[in-house]
Amino acid sequence: MGHTSTVTALSVVGIIQAVAIAYLVLGTAPAPRQVDEASLLRDWSQPPPWPVFLPANEVLQFSDRLPGLVYPPSIHAMSVAMMFMRSQLFYTAAKLDFAESLAAGPLTASELASASGLPPESADLTFRVMRALVALGYFNEGRPCPTTGLPRFSNTAVSATLRRAHPNSIRPMVLHLTEDTYLSWGQLSRQLSGEGVAFPLSHNGTDFWDYLRAKPKQERQFSNAMTAVDALGVPATLSDYRWGSFKRFIDVGGAHGSFLAAAMRRFDGIQGVLFDQPTVIAAAREKWQPGAQWGDVQSRAGLFGGSFFDSETLPKGRDGDVWVLRIVLHDWDDEESVAILKSVRSAMGSARCTLTIVEASLAPTVSGTHASRALMDLHMALAFEGKERTTAQFEALFARSGFRLTGVHPTRGIFVIHEAVPV
Ligand SMILES: C[S@@+](CC[C@H](N)C(=O)[O-])C[C@H]1O[C@@H](n2cnc3c(N)ncnc32)[C@H](O)[C@@H]1O
Repeated sequence: MGHTSTVTALSVVGIIQAVAIAYLVLGTAPAPRQVDEASLLRDWSQPPPWPVFLPANEVLQFSDRLPGLVYPPSIHAMSVAMMFMRSQLFYTAAKLDFAESLAAGPLTASELASASGLPPESADLTFRVMRALVALGYFNEGRPCPTTGLPRFSNTAVSATLRRAHPNSIRPMVLHLTEDTYLSWGQLSRQLSGEGVAFPLSHNGTDFWDYLRAKPKQERQFSNAMTAVDALGVPATLSDYRWGSFKRFIDVGGAHGSFLAAAMRRFDGIQGVLFDQPTVIAAAREKWQPGAQWGDVQSRAGLFGGSFFDSETLPKGRDGDVWVLRIVLHDWDDEESVAILKSVRSAMGSARCTLTIVEASLAPTVSGTHASRALMDLHMALAFEGKERTTAQFEALFARSGFRLTGVHPTRGIFVIHEAVPV
């Protein structure tokens, strides 16, 4: 651990000790409080200045290792083994729309069960679910019911992100991760043992993309989950790169086109092209109608269905294009990624185009890697045989597909932008 990390570690441990002492001195638990639901819908996605972002990011990275330092080892190990319960609990709250039901004000467990369409006999289990969600800090215990004295529950800033009206709503991603990929994680040891890829192992041999094609509801939810990725830093991605210097933005594998729409809103001279599989584009068209979600920029956009493995179905390159692959290559292994890039290179032809790969890429060293990025890398392996990559790995892909790396642009969100040009 370097000097800076040691200092950070000591100060974080110091803060925790101070909070623990204050907790013991002032009482046992925070008193139930009233929450202003409207204030929980604040848009927090604007990035902080770099001098704030960089140290905050260090602290966040360190905080993943913090429980291992402050808990006795066996207690920490037990809590790690129980982590899956948290994601299932949070998923259940998302699925049953608890955050939405609580938006009008605090409810007792039986009121919440009834507002969520659950049978009356579920009131007790709803209470126990909410007690666990409050204990974890995901929901809040509001003031008790004035007539019965029973505990009432309300939202926190975290649970409010499950609401549809939240500007950074994460609900579709919570539903997708649990419904479509949770089972795959149970197969990690089998994948390591060489028995196959976890997703097909847990889905009767079907790979992820065929599974989605066979389940239109899940495919739509997956595209909505991709829109929810915007909550993790679209303003930062748009601020921290020179998107405004291009004439046309081609979003390859762009799902429903939320990132494209955000770019077109921000840079009003730019033309847009959305490219994805035909079924995905068919669903996206509804959102690009005049008067619909991205209707305000539809007159500058074209939507095309095809396959990025077939360059003939891609649009033809023009001078001043930026071709964007946001969290696309991480779904694919190196051979498939090279095939996609070759296809894009061929569609660009002799036009002066720029390629940008927008991904949560990896640091070159083990100790410099954020836990969330290392986990996402494994998630890609289990779901798609894909991977997150370092700059050196992107460079190697570019070298094999007719591109040259011209820049690496970190952003104040989760993404790093790797820029390349045709050679
Ligand atoms: C992980 S999502 C990323 C979506 C979007 N770029 C974003 O950042 O929100 C990958 C996208 O690749 C699309 N895709 C998968 N196979 C494809 C293919 N053969 N041709 C075109 N798009 C494809 C999927 O439909 C999906 O929308």
